[in-house]
Amino acid sequence: PVLVVDFGAQYAQLIARRVREANVYSEIVPHSITADEVREKDPAAIVLSGGPSSVYEDGAPSLDGEILDLGVPVLGICYGFQAMAKSLGGEVAHTGLREYGATDVTVSGTESVLLGDQPASQVTWMSHGDSVAKAPEGFEVLASSASTPVAAFASDERKLYGVQWHPEVKHSAYGQAVLENFLHRAAGLPGDWNSANVIEEQVARIKEQVGSARVIAGLSGGVDSAVAAALVHEAVGDQLTCVFVDHGLLRADERKQVEEDYVASTGVRLVTVDAEQQFLDALAGVSDPEQKRKIIGREFIRTFEAAAEALVLEARADAAASDSDAGEVKFLVQGTLYPDVVESGGGSGTANIKSHHNVGGLPEDMTFELVEPLRTLFKDEVRAVGRELGLPEVIVGRQPFPGPGLGIRIVGEVTKDRLELLRAADKIAREELTAAGLDEEIWQCPVVLLADVRSVGVQGDGRTYGHPIVLRPVSSEDAMTADWTRLPYDTLAKISNRITNEVPDVNRVVLDVTSKPPGTIEWE
Ligand code: XMP
Repeated sequence: PVLVVDFGAQYAQLIARRVREANVYSEIVPHSITADEVREKDPAAIVLSGGPSSVYEDGAPSLDGEILDLGVPVLGICYGFQAMAKSLGGEVAHTGLREYGATDVTVSGTESVLLGDQPASQVTWMSHGDSVAKAPEGFEVLASSASTPVAAFASDERKLYGVQWHPEVKHSAYGQAVLENFLHRAAGLPGDWNSANVIEEQVARIKEQVGSARVIAGLSGGVDSAVAAALVHEAVGDQLTCVFVDHGLLRADERKQVEEDYVASTGVRLVTVDAEQQFLDALAGVSDPEQKRKIIGREFIRTFEAAAEALVLEARADAAASDSDAGEVKFLVQGTLYPDVVESGGGSGTANIKSHHNVGGLPEDMTFELVEPLRTLFKDEVRAVGRELGLPEVIVGRQPFPGPGLGIRIVGEVTKDRLELLRAADKIAREELTAAGLDEEIWQCPVVLLADVRSVGVQGDGRTYGHPIVLRPVSSEDAMTADWTRLPYDTLAKISNRITNEVPDVNRVVLDVTSKPPGTIEWE
């Protein structure tokens, strides 16, 4: 793999993703990794990420300098660039000049391996206080900016490279090209990692883990659980049973998409549990968001547990009949993604953290072993795997949807009528966004019903006194931060028109123009 050494900023995940976008497999490792540990992983190349503002700060993370002597190509970025400069005997100065945001850079190394074929003047994204004042002995300076004499350097001989700016950020105009030059040209990596090899590798791994035992998977209607289950099905066929809890808080057509489209394209065995009334009863009279989340999580656990228990009993009966224990349900599939693994410290305790986020918590006392075939993947890669497996676009391409569903998109008490109304509005918004070709541009667009708010309107000849619907379109890379999406007015007009005309009791549509932070993506 390519190792991305995480110096503690939020950029390491982004770098890992950009490396994979260049079709090279990457893994994130902590900055405390030693040269011996690196050697054991036998990496094809190493990228040092950005980090805190100064290499001179107390407790600033340092780099085992021996890593630079392993003969493995290294690219240092921002803090990583400075850590490298310092370790190799260059000079890092406290200039007091901060560069932050879009910054013009003059490239002198337009013939170099790293910055070759790039314009001599380009816009990059910077975020640093210190600067490299002098490149280490034997290094060529490739670029500079107004306040940074050494904004990039290279030693082709030692295969060591560095840039002060953030090539992983889209605001760096030629950022991806820097990474690709490093990976393909400097490190000589072919770029042949893709979803087809991921499937092959995971299928083999699942077969080995599961053997002849039975497996269950909870489907939420979301992308991750659908792709995880499809991979397991590809590996072990009917040893897998999927459980889908219809809690009545789903989007329009979601159940049909799972029961018909998903089953048709994968052939999985599916058990659907009808639990709408149970959830509505449990939510009656509750409007506090945290309380709603807890109730939904708890009911989900109960329902799933009962379904799983029934399957286990059935499997035991079968196993007893065939006088073998091969039919026991030993495994549970989880759609844990790489960011969850990284965010929870790279492995230990991961399953628990994910289960809480995901569906409000899977049973803690369940004794299943976990199968997590998406543990090394990012969301867009999961989508690519899903497409490669032939899953329907309505499932693979769908927006992220919270486990507690529409229950946390009704501000106020959740009732059947309100759910129907919100479902109708949500369906219209999704249809129009898709029709306008905007699905790629937005990360998701929660549609929220302000059930306790009423406003006056006029329709036909009469006064109305109805509820507002909020549109919350956001653009994001990972949902940790987000900006509100500038949707075309025509699309907004169409959605507003249709919702106020077609959805009873809604007489106003408003647009949420708050970024995250300070607003979260969901309203509750
Ligand atoms: P917030 O509202 O925290 O949401 O900005 C960030 C992302 O997480 C989704 N979300 C959830 N997903 N279970 C989930 O599986 C949840 O309880 C949950 N709450 C929020 C949200 O849709 C957004 O993509």
